[in-house]
Amino acid sequence: MEPQKILITWWLGYIWSHTAALFAQSGYEVVLLDNLSNTHKDQVLSSLKILTWKDLTFYEGDVRDYDFLDKVFEQEKPDGVIHFAAKKAVWESCHDPFLYYDNNINGTITLLEIMDKYQVKNLIFSSSATVYDAEKNVPPFTETDRLNTTNPYWTTKLVMEFLLKDMSQHKGFNVICLRYFNPIWAHHSWLLGENPKGIPTNLVPYLLKVAKKEIEKITIFWDNYPTPDGTCIRDYIHIEDLAQAHLQSYDYLLKKVEKEQITEEGNLAPAFEIFNIWTGNGKSVKEMLNIAETVVWEEINNEIGERRDGDVAVSVANPIKAKQILWWEPQKSIVEAVEDAWNFYSANKGA
Ligand code: WQD
Repeated sequence: MEPQKILITWWLGYIWSHTAALFAQSGYEVVLLDNLSNTHKDQVLSSLKILTWKDLTFYEGDVRDYDFLDKVFEQEKPDGVIHFAAKKAVWESCHDPFLYYDNNINGTITLLEIMDKYQVKNLIFSSSATVYDAEKNVPPFTETDRLNTTNPYWTTKLVMEFLLKDMSQHKGFNVICLRYFNPIWAHHSWLLGENPKGIPTNLVPYLLKVAKKEIEKITIFWDNYPTPDGTCIRDYIHIEDLAQAHLQSYDYLLKKVEKEQITEEGNLAPAFEIFNIWTGNGKSVKEMLNIAETVVWEEINNEIGERRDGDVAVSVANPIKAKQILWWEPQKSIVEAVEDAWNFYSANKGA
């Protein structure tokens, strides 16, 4: 039987590359699509070759480009898609909402149009815990909790989920949305990890650049939140646990579709499922600072600053549904994640 062919869309970030490595290692044929807006293509592709013993097919382009995407689907005819392509910095979306509406929403609409044209129906969507109403819900959030957004990035993730629900209900798409929050991006081989061009937006890479003395100090965005130490609490997760969740979700989707779910009218009932992919164990910014200082064996220069646009005090969710249905649960600790990130960064500094 021909291996399933999976198209992975991303703007060359890190969840993308880890997921591609795992799918390729698991026997899937993997096709990559990226607009190279965020990192070092040669480094990632050469690392993927080492990890998978394969030259993965790569297309440089943008999911918003209908003609480009049409050519890719005509050429590759994938069996399924894992859709990561989205910009993801909360603060940036507050300063440039239309950039996020165009990248994230228009990009998804174009992808769905092409998938429908080529009757590619299976999709795993990299959603986000940001869709939960962090002000009204009591953490840990569950998949049926109230949804709301307080910044344009979060709005785009919620709109993307609604588009996919429409596709499932009216176009027969089989969709799984994975809601997660703070990946820590580094592979245990130190071959893949976050090495963003310019100044990172996320906490852990920023801490490590300060530890490397590439940036003078980190500003902790406010310490007067209603949390034990006054700083925000987030659910940080090792990227390899996250990649594994994508693999187990796709396997689950195929089994669910194979069961030929028939509705009363005798039609195939398409799948639409949502899972929280979390450790369920939130850490505050100060706790993450302490973990990073333990890993790098020295103090990391920091100061307390003003609150950042779009930040909420606590965002932690309940992963029990993914454990019960996908049989997925995180295998790696946050300390391991920060250690892998530090080792990757030290091995590839400035690459
Ligand atoms: C984490 C905490 C900051 C930098 C996350 C993901 C993002 C996306 C949206 C899924 C916050 C604090 C940070 C700094 C700081 N994921 N911080 N000083 O904002 O939770 O966004 O959800 O959709 O990819 O990262 O992540 O890493 O930016 O911040 O104090 O220099 O660290 O206030 O509480 P955030 P982050």
